[in-house]
Amino acid sequence: MSTTTAFDIDSIRSDFDILDQNINGKPLVYLDSAASAQKPNQVLDAINHYYRHDNANVHRGAHTLGDRATADFESARDCVREYINAASRKEIIWTKGTTEAINLIANGLSQSLAPGDEIIVSRMEHHANIVPWQMAAERTGAVIRVWDINAAGELCLDQLQDLLNEKTKILAITHVSNVLGTINPVKDIVKQAKAAGVISVIDGAQAVPHFQVDVQALDCDFYVFSSHKLFGPTGIGVVYGKEKRLEALPPYQGGGEMIERVSFEGTTYNELPYKFEAGTPAISEAVGLKAAIEYLGNIDRAAMEAHEQGLYQLALARVSEVPGMRLIGTAQHKVPVMSFLIEGLHPSDIGTLLDQQGIAIRTGHHCAMPLMQHYDVPGTARASFAFYNTEADVNRLFDGLIKIQKMFV
Ligand code: ALA
Repeated sequence: MSTTTAFDIDSIRSDFDILDQNINGKPLVYLDSAASAQKPNQVLDAINHYYRHDNANVHRGAHTLGDRATADFESARDCVREYINAASRKEIIWTKGTTEAINLIANGLSQSLAPGDEIIVSRMEHHANIVPWQMAAERTGAVIRVWDINAAGELCLDQLQDLLNEKTKILAITHVSNVLGTINPVKDIVKQAKAAGVISVIDGAQAVPHFQVDVQALDCDFYVFSSHKLFGPTGIGVVYGKEKRLEALPPYQGGGEMIERVSFEGTTYNELPYKFEAGTPAISEAVGLKAAIEYLGNIDRAAMEAHEQGLYQLALARVSEVPGMRLIGTAQHKVPVMSFLIEGLHPSDIGTLLDQQGIAIRTGHHCAMPLMQHYDVPGTARASFAFYNTEADVNRLFDGLIKIQKMFV
């Protein structure tokens, strides 16, 4: 695949050894990429090469391996900067993932919150974009304001102007819902927040695997995502923050790397981005993430998006074949994520019965309990598609659902 620029699904699948196996005697159909995406062999090879040839700690500079590890690690930062079009490498902070990224921002911003200040979050947020704000509100006396969604799972856009007022300090919103697949019009939302003097924090965990993101075009203050949903390894994620916003935030954790000078009289902090990176970082994970981004760079992204949308349209066309199947999330602009219920079947039973046929989906509340309450359901089944899925995968899912429905309802 490495030299290919066209979208060639057979070639792509040959890069994902993990997809070529039987589960419970049936060829694997992996439809749980929104929980964690599979990694191409190129990512595994890059990590393997790093550990076999370059492994050492970074920024300690006393020997050749350390220099190589530092170069690998910092070139991954440059790669991420370029990928999301940040203005400066100082604006790319490594974290463990999206959750830690939002905690870092919420913790830092809470220093400037006062009682009665308001934080807007939407009803479709993942717990990772709710709980850190609730914790910040508990510490400071700030108040959470909830932005509603409609029955299709789209933000009630006309509500935003009513929510924004002189007390609003932060707007924390997902770019793409992990349950509904809804793509929110973030650029316009950020524009309105900015006009009201409100800091915008965008959870991009479910967006970056599906389309190219340009943080300067979005003009958001913060944008966060995880590597493991972007076909890279677990254990690493990114905070993008505008330089002036990051400069204004206090450090998140203390320790080595994040300091300039330490004495018992006081400590001064390192410059960006290191101010936020205490301790030995996730070096091989950064190397793997760089390989994932380079891999995506060799794919025709427009063709990839068209392929994913084609899969989703095929899935939509087959919904009526499953008696009692109800979709949760029917927004006009969506990534290929399908949450659903089947009358008479518990979502977790659907998951177990599909697994017996070699088909992997996610079931449950998807770390979005307030959204489940909105739809008055305990949970859903969710099939999430990635560019390495095929029409045959979609058909296996629906043939499987029809079979289950006939057997058990
Ligand atoms: N947030 C991930 C999901 O939606 C784990 O499945």
